[in-house]
Amino acid sequence: MEPKKIFLIGFMGVGKTFLGEKLALHLELDFYDLDYAIENEAALDVNNIFQKKGEKYFRQVESDILLNWMKRGVIATGGGVVLKEKNRDFLKSDEHKVVWLCPKWDVIYSRIANSYRPMVLDRTKDELFKLFCEREPLYEECADVTFAGTDLNELIRLF
Ligand code: S3P
Repeated sequence: MEPKKIFLIGFMGVGKTFLGEKLALHLELDFYDLDYAIENEAALDVNNIFQKKGEKYFRQVESDILLNWMKRGVIATGGGVVLKEKNRDFLKSDEHKVVWLCPKWDVIYSRIANSYRPMVLDRTKDELFKLFCEREPLYEECADVTFAGTDLNELIRLF
């Protein structure tokens, strides 16, 4: 049997890590976070990777790790994972189940507004909303399952 891999995608602040950990527990699968894997590889945290090595380097490592992902489990991705076409093609493969978490913009914004994420730090609310709108079709393109709620029990019911 093909190993089971469930990728959680969506904008920053949608709850990929929070819900992913709980979903993994429920499904008795391991949980992974792609950002942690990138931090391990770069031996720097995400903010320092952006500051010291730049976004291009971050995207390169993100893509290398995603495209070589072998472990079964629930995998939370970073919000920008869908930017590269090759990443989207990988996610769309039949071997993977991709769950797009997409609560309303207001919910998302309230969660990220005061965060120290590098993509948030130098952007206004309008600029973040523009980024959100630009990315929505990319998440949609990759999604097998779309979940607009925030309640774990509702998410679990989809599995
Ligand atoms: C990013 C989202 C972050 C992280 C990096 C870039 C993005 O992950 O990968 O800061 O471009 O949206 P989260 O979505 O978990 O915050």
